[in-house]
Amino acid sequence: MSTNNEAWGSRVGLVLAMAGNAVGLGNFLRFPVQAINNGGGTFIIPYLVCFLLMGLPLLFVEWSMGRFGGARGHHSTPFILDAMDKKRHFWKYLGVFGLFTNIAVAAYYCYIESWALAYAFDSVMNVFGGMTQEEVAAHFQSYVGLGSTEPIVFWILCLALNTWVLSRGLSGGIEMVAKIAMPLLIMFGVLLAIQGLTLEAGEKGAVYDGVFGLNWLWEPDFSTIWKADVWLAAAGQIFFTLSVGMGTIQCYASYLRSRDDIALNAMSAGWMNEFVEVVLGAAVVIPISVGYFGIDKVVEIVQSGGGFGLAFQTLPFLFHKWGEVLSIVAGFSWFGLLFFAGITSSLAMGTPFMGFLQDEFGFNRKKAAWTFGLIILLLGLPTVVFYNEGVFAEYDYWAGTVSLVVFAVAEIIVFSWVFGMEKGWEEINRGADIKVPVIFKFIIKWITPLILLAVFIGSLPGIWDAITFNANSGYLAVEENKPYIIFARLLLMGVYVAICYLVWIAYKRRMKEGRET
Ligand code: ALA
Repeated sequence: MSTNNEAWGSRVGLVLAMAGNAVGLGNFLRFPVQAINNGGGTFIIPYLVCFLLMGLPLLFVEWSMGRFGGARGHHSTPFILDAMDKKRHFWKYLGVFGLFTNIAVAAYYCYIESWALAYAFDSVMNVFGGMTQEEVAAHFQSYVGLGSTEPIVFWILCLALNTWVLSRGLSGGIEMVAKIAMPLLIMFGVLLAIQGLTLEAGEKGAVYDGVFGLNWLWEPDFSTIWKADVWLAAAGQIFFTLSVGMGTIQCYASYLRSRDDIALNAMSAGWMNEFVEVVLGAAVVIPISVGYFGIDKVVEIVQSGGGFGLAFQTLPFLFHKWGEVLSIVAGFSWFGLLFFAGITSSLAMGTPFMGFLQDEFGFNRKKAAWTFGLIILLLGLPTVVFYNEGVFAEYDYWAGTVSLVVFAVAEIIVFSWVFGMEKGWEEINRGADIKVPVIFKFIIKWITPLILLAVFIGSLPGIWDAITFNANSGYLAVEENKPYIIFARLLLMGVYVAICYLVWIAYKRRMKEGRET
């Protein structure tokens, strides 16, 4: 039945595609905002601990699950989980998260990606030249308020581009884009980081506040380190940035051969993501904005303007302090970087559902890609049209935050306790080009599941607040938004149920045809 016999073209291409999957808008938009909201130096220790004890182990687990599934003809998590437990058959319905999350996240993620594309274009056209900061912020508000046709045009362009690349397949599409986008993204990031770190005190109107915020970010603050919400935010950032708990890593790894290395590849992609996040990501937004405004004002901008307050509403204004030519170069580099970071991640989000359609329903690559594109168009439309009514934020909360944790809890239990750590450890080490420290065997079996359970339990009060519209502030508290938010929730639930139904049909077909699951 499967029409899916693709493979990666080269190891470099695989690692760049995996790194591109991880390196995304989360590195440049989400990380600085999380760091700022959670007290800078207070955030960074929980963040690094979560990376070592939860992020790295989950990378090993997901890469191994993927390669294991691929060897059995499965390229998405429902049937990968099914293959890992021959006795129980319910795991595949939890594996649905590995399809659902990608579809629901891609639906709003491509919209942000399209802003970056539009803003790169606007920067070259010098649209922001001569604007005050209030005008730059107002430009963004009118943009997301659908003040013109521009957002729709760029969004559709972006979706079409993603779909077209996906239809070209792994090596001819995704790998090719990763090989171009990743070096360019790093080059743009380095240019901006150099500029950010060499802004001089008092020059060009910069305020200069404690090495441009780097002390503030990197000086550990032990006084607030035990605050549970800082740990939850750190764990959430690790999930999002590494793309763990999503199902994309399993899908990419399912195209490996059974003796290909996964240990070194997983480390290379994971550490590359951390370099881009904590070195480059932290050296652009925070130093530049803190350099001009000082820390207090930056915290205020982030808290009042939400996640996009700095990136889209402030930086284009600050770039203009550098003169016309440099501001155009900086604007193009910044938004070009965001676009490249975004597209290498959104492409990854397309692959699990495509793999599922190819494995189970005999779709060819092109048909699978255009089906995915159409679904994203339909599901993304409410986030575009009702952005200000909270639909976008609602997708981000349920799909981009809660689902990742739920799925990660399920997969670590299956891997460590059902499949079994002995077999799991063998999987991780088969074909390995590095010796994985044996301590990870203990961490994956005990520490990571416990941390994940703690994160899950710790998230419950927040989930309950969201369900009951009990949030103190923000879009949930706005009475007029309620119908839109309820609509978004029903839509997301409908998507989950529809995928469960497809998995059930696929399972029945396999049984009828006597094919192994
Ligand atoms: N890992 C991707 C990001 O950071 C989803 O944006």
